[in-house]
Amino acid sequence: MVPARLVTMEVIIQPNQEAAAALVARIVARELRSNPHLVLGLATGQTMECVYRHLVRLHQTEKLDFSLCRTFNLDEYVGLFPSDPNSYRHYMNHHLFRHVNVDPRNTYLPNGLAADLDEECRRYESAIKRFGGIDLQLLGIGKAGHIGFNEPLSALRSRTRVKALTPTTLKQNASTFGGEENMPRRAITMGVGTILECRRCILLATGASKANVISRAVEGPITSMISASALQLHARSTVIVDEDAAGNLVEKDYYRWIFANEPEWEEYR
Ligand code: F6R
Repeated sequence: MVPARLVTMEVIIQPNQEAAAALVARIVARELRSNPHLVLGLATGQTMECVYRHLVRLHQTEKLDFSLCRTFNLDEYVGLFPSDPNSYRHYMNHHLFRHVNVDPRNTYLPNGLAADLDEECRRYESAIKRFGGIDLQLLGIGKAGHIGFNEPLSALRSRTRVKALTPTTLKQNASTFGGEENMPRRAITMGVGTILECRRCILLATGASKANVISRAVEGPITSMISASALQLHARSTVIVDEDAAGNLVEKDYYRWIFANEPEWEEYR
């Protein structure tokens, strides 16, 4: 049960990218230590690389134990083999899984090679349910406001499904593919509704290029044009940003006061 005063979106501003990612990793570590069977939702992308570096370090230096947890990733491109360096399975192996003691059989990503993609989406939703739902979901945010690959106009109640990527997303992710023309145009993604059912959501955004979309997601109206704004409906979502990504937020002083004074953040200050 979430205490009533925590039913809110919280914003935590950290001095820089490193501190913001370290804080996310500490929250994950705390949750994992209090529940070794944690069902952990994971995201990919450049922002998350720093979080995974911190988690690997916590595993190596403080014996953070992943042996009993399960992980579910938000999304995977359609048509890429797991061995493809651009697949999210490859990303997760490279940045986290192979460096910690997670059981590979307990790591789940949608299968973008499934013969029946709709059936694969249903199967993924059932797997999440079978393990009791996601306890803690990590999220990044795209420049067009997506969480997972929930592109503009994704229904706020959407479930895991195949989604066509927008030109903004194709541009954002093209560099690692050596150009947009080499990128898959579709991905399987958890839906906004799937994400809203996770018990706790942590969204991390860093850098000035995210300042505009963060202010729209956090302080703007809830709209399917910015799927991250749906987190305003969530009982326990925390947005962690560095100073650059916080640049356009109006209520910065209020957010800073809460982080500095609320007892539940004491151990993280
Ligand atoms: C990836 C994902 C995306 C990214 C977002 C930010 O699994 O879910 O929503 O989190 O596109 O990507 P970066 O961090 O590369 O800016």
